[in-house]
Amino acid sequence: MSNSTEMQSNPIKAGWESPSNIALIKYWGKHGKQLPRNSSVSFTLSTAATRTFVTIKDENTTGKVELDFIFNGKENQAFSTRVEKFLNSICDEYFTFLKKYSIHIDTSNSFPHSSGIASSASGMSALALCLCDIENQLNDKTNFDENFYLKASEVSRLGSGSACRSIYPEVAVWGQHEDIPGSSDEYAIGIRHQIHPVFKSFHDDILIISAGEKSVSSTAGHNLMEGNPFAPVRYQQANQRMKLLITALKQGNISDFGKIAEDEAMTLHALMMCSDPSYILMEEGTLSVIRKIKQFREQTSIPVFFTLDAGPNVHVLYPDEVESQVNAFIQNELKPYCNEGRIIRDKVGTGPEKIS
Ligand code: DP6
Repeated sequence: MSNSTEMQSNPIKAGWESPSNIALIKYWGKHGKQLPRNSSVSFTLSTAATRTFVTIKDENTTGKVELDFIFNGKENQAFSTRVEKFLNSICDEYFTFLKKYSIHIDTSNSFPHSSGIASSASGMSALALCLCDIENQLNDKTNFDENFYLKASEVSRLGSGSACRSIYPEVAVWGQHEDIPGSSDEYAIGIRHQIHPVFKSFHDDILIISAGEKSVSSTAGHNLMEGNPFAPVRYQQANQRMKLLITALKQGNISDFGKIAEDEAMTLHALMMCSDPSYILMEEGTLSVIRKIKQFREQTSIPVFFTLDAGPNVHVLYPDEVESQVNAFIQNELKPYCNEGRIIRDKVGTGPEKIS
């Protein structure tokens, strides 16, 4: 077969596993077609991941995307509708094959869907990688070059902003920033080569404080930033903190890193509290855990820090060398605040992988 416009008789399949990521400088506020109001930087994780297989087969003459979608071995109407809408929104500009064949998607998460862990970053990045892989196969291309990953990141962004950072190993930046050559609002780039080795084996233990559905989605939260009087100052602050954090990441400065990560978590939730309407996504357990982490650090001088995403769960960040002390602290002092004692022990990871 020479190109994607030819008739496809045999099914073509692609499978990718893609991880979640945790933002250190938060993306919070967007405009236009999923463009960020400020740049953000994240650790790519390893344990929390999505495995997705996409198959294209029989000819489709309906003129729109024909999708058959399986999530964790079962049909899931809500996810199917979201993915179908997403595919219809990108097919004309990015993947014309999507309307020409029937599409089968089989996807599953390595973490329980009910854990309250955001699955959009891993889910949308895994899907985008599969679509780029199928496009490659249709064009008889076998290599995954820089453009492959840039396109996968751009397409992921259109599905869910934070997903565009999951494409790269270890550390990724999304959003144009003067200190980061090659950075762009359209896609993320990997910056692992600029990062001190101490951060490449950093831990992120995710304490599941509540597993329930969030009362306000991230997308609704981003939209509320448009009327938030503090928004312009926030975007300047994020830009300034990017500078400081990138410097800390380069130098291996763990205390500066930790301070900025914690300040970002607090700012994110403060922005929610001063939106109109205001809302709170932290739970009592979130606050108790934050206090305990600060107290433990002050008493022991062990470098352990927290961050939060747009929910009540706490990400506990620490370097590998203090793993045993921090693990004992988590088990003894923090686990009681976790829903059914649930903790996902995650680490900085090596990025998405093709499933053969
Ligand atoms: C707080 O990427 O989930 O986790 O683009 O609307 O899908 P959409 O939002 P999403 O927002 C993530 C917000 C965050 C911060 C971050 O990951 O940078």
